[in-house]
Amino acid sequence: MIDIPEFSIMKEGVNYKYYIDGKWKNSNSGKLISVYNPYNSELVGNVQACTKEEVDNIIKIAHKNIECWRDTPLNERTNAINKAADLIVEFSEPLGYLLMKEIGKPLNSALSEITRTAEIFRATADSSFQLSGETILGDVFEGFSREKVSMTYRVPLGVILCIGPFNYPFNLTGSKIAPALLAGNSIVMKPPTQGPLTALHFGIILEKAGVPPGIFNIITGRGSEIGDYLTSHPGIDMIAFTGSSQTGKHLAKVAGMKPLLLELGGKDAAIVLDDADLDNTVKAIVSGAFSFSGQRCTAVKRVLPMPAIADDLLKKVTEETLKLSIGNPAENKKIGPLISSEQCEYVQSLIDDALKKGATLICGNKREGNVIWPTILDNVTVDMRIAWEEPFGPVLPFIRINSAEKAIEISNKSEYGLQGMIFTENIDLAFNIAQELEVGTVQINGQSSRGPDHFPFLGTKSSGLGTQGIKYSIEAMSRNKVVVINLSERGKLVKQCFTIDK
Ligand code: NAP
Ligand code: G3P
Repeated sequence: MIDIPEFSIMKEGVNYKYYIDGKWKNSNSGKLISVYNPYNSELVGNVQACTKEEVDNIIKIAHKNIECWRDTPLNERTNAINKAADLIVEFSEPLGYLLMKEIGKPLNSALSEITRTAEIFRATADSSFQLSGETILGDVFEGFSREKVSMTYRVPLGVILCIGPFNYPFNLTGSKIAPALLAGNSIVMKPPTQGPLTALHFGIILEKAGVPPGIFNIITGRGSEIGDYLTSHPGIDMIAFTGSSQTGKHLAKVAGMKPLLLELGGKDAAIVLDDADLDNTVKAIVSGAFSFSGQRCTAVKRVLPMPAIADDLLKKVTEETLKLSIGNPAENKKIGPLISSEQCEYVQSLIDDALKKGATLICGNKREGNVIWPTILDNVTVDMRIAWEEPFGPVLPFIRINSAEKAIEISNKSEYGLQGMIFTENIDLAFNIAQELEVGTVQINGQSSRGPDHFPFLGTKSSGLGTQGIKYSIEAMSRNKVVVINLSERGKLVKQCFTIDK
């Protein structure tokens, strides 16, 4: 990895600092949290374990500076966001490399996570028109005249707390930061403890892009130690969170009456009908299930095939899965490590449970270090945990079905409702099934996924609250401000109206 002089200020050796009011600081706790490469356990860096007092200070600073950014003309905020996009691209290689090391994502995917974030920044800047308002005249209701005029415009919410997950620590903090800044908010960002280092670089990037000190701040520390204190803090005006459903639900309880944008877990099911295009379906399922070793909320997490296609589908999916390269993310192997050994043990417990209850092992079920071989299970039944729980690992269960109704029933019985997929040549039927699925998005003949990033992205049930996506995030991070003018009768023009003689 190339050490970039611009970034040297944020760390001493491998010890990264936290970022408050434009300054990089060590925590008074004197404690550090180590970040290890999940593939080879090498130390990648240490971050500060910040204290509650430092949480208080950072929120105070973010508040103190609200007006300065809110009152900055929109075109200047837009310029800063565009400049940040340029800088993200400029530094994409070292950032991608660091990201690969800290979370074990294949190098090419890590690089695209960085460049995708730059694209989100640019598209957000291009969407500044979303902050325009409207004018409404009062005479729609009886008793009100056109002299009552409502003018609405969008104003920021205040201080936004942005919390990201380990699997997209740069992108899923960046996709919150850009709309929050565009809308004129100030920000406290808390990156995930397993993967905080790349996201810390937003401090330097935004400062160089012209975001004034105190508008963007970063606190580091374990969610289990400072999470509740942060989310329940009265100085936080809105929370944008991506992570597990468990943490999301807990957060919603402690946050109180704050607006929330929650992107949580999923158990996306691929319903494959008899007439599906087999090659296209196989490609979508293998890529959807196993990219980043299944550590994506939108991963294909269940296959529900109809009888006439099930055997061929299973055979072809297995053939393609066995071709996936396995090993070092630095060498771009398709299947790499899971984020931690605890996660590997959890995934193994789901495989063991299924096999004990009669599932058929088709391939995989092998582990070396934190790498689990892509595992396919056939004849999975609804009494098995893998039918319902989110593995966040490379395990793909086949639950054979014999009707579209059964597929809908099994899909909808899930506590999650992120995305669903239907593979068929019969678009009318696909559309009808899509109407029945209780999910945020239904993909027809394609794998579940979040992008492109201007599409609405949302989950029902335990999968989330609110809608992400450029336009929708800007909307969620701003509110209407309404000013009603009551014009006086004095200025009214007296008009001569024609009347028709009868
Ligand atoms: P996680 O364990 O829930 O952690 C997510 C973030 O929440 C981390 O920054 C974590 O900090 C923080 N956190 C933990 N406890 C907290 C608390 N009490 N208050 C406030 N913040 C707290 O999730 P993860 O393991 O990083 O990510 C995997 C999960 O996220 C999966 O379930 C996946 O489906 C979901 N996910 C969903 C989406 C989506 O868009 N729907 C996208 C990506 C991931 P620490 O790291 O310090 O604990
Ligand atoms: O798990 C992160 C979630 O947002 C998925 O994103 O682009 O991999 O579908 P994507």
